[in-house]
Amino acid sequence: MKIFECGGHKLILGDVLEVLESEIEDNSIDLIFADPPYNIGKDFNGFKDQWKVESDYLEWSYSWLNLCINKLKANGSLYLMASTQSMPYFDLYLRDRLTILSRIVWYYDSSGVQAKKHYGSLYEPILYCVKDKRNYIFNSSDILVEAKTGAVRKLIDYRKSTPSVYNSEKVPGNVWEFPRVRYRMPEYEEHPTQKPVSLLERIIKASSNEGDTVLDLFAGSFTTSFVAKQLKRQSIAIELQEKYLQIGCRRLQISQKNSDKELMSEVNSDEFLPIGI
Ligand SMILES: C[S@@+](CC[C@H](N)C(=O)[O-])C[C@H]1O[C@@H](n2cnc3c(N)ncnc32)[C@H](O)[C@@H]1O
Repeated sequence: MKIFECGGHKLILGDVLEVLESEIEDNSIDLIFADPPYNIGKDFNGFKDQWKVESDYLEWSYSWLNLCINKLKANGSLYLMASTQSMPYFDLYLRDRLTILSRIVWYYDSSGVQAKKHYGSLYEPILYCVKDKRNYIFNSSDILVEAKTGAVRKLIDYRKSTPSVYNSEKVPGNVWEFPRVRYRMPEYEEHPTQKPVSLLERIIKASSNEGDTVLDLFAGSFTTSFVAKQLKRQSIAIELQEKYLQIGCRRLQISQKNSDKELMSEVNSDEFLPIGI
């Protein structure tokens, strides 16, 4: 296991179960984002995202989900992504342990290869859960979106004593439309399932406050840490592949000078890589 740390952001190279057990304190995390391998055969730098049987995959997933629940603070939130095939199992499992507040559909247009013998896949499901339905963070005013009324001009509310324009902003619904990250987009990194900055911005703004700690169990290209830093949150991110950890260090501007040291390699702020590298 290797840990890189700088300015409130920890990047950990290691296995999710080991790291959760040994490095993360119980009741210490405000927000968890979990975007695990989906068990659909992707290649994560040589790690084959395919379990022998589905029950093995679910058993493995339930182990880190159980640990996650312990790591969350009493008012903490968990966002879980999964394949459309696996999500029903996670939904049933988590509704007995947390409160599921929203079942979100991340919809994207796919201009790539289209299915010919069934309907094409245009969405990924996200579960939004909290530990305590009476006490959780939801900063609705930080994530407002323009309400699409279909009207060309702004609608006026004539029922008011002084007629004024209707509030044209609203809290997003549970269908989120963000483009997938594609080659040549400015945020593109060499990772097969990189999640967009816009998706993580909404989640982090809604379910954490400045200074809070956001944990990403399967960091990949470290989008969560990158956004957490921009939004002045602290972050911890776990990833198994050194190649992807290097992306994280670059995105977070953390030097890997000490990368050959086992375990802790604390980095001083004067060891930051220059911006833009
Ligand atoms: C779906 S991707 C995450 C993508 C990420 N959300 C992003 O925006 O780039 C899953 C990641 O989990 C990593 N992974 C697989 N098994 C792991 C394990 N046991 N512990 C930690 N990370 C693991 C893979 O290397 C892969 O990068």
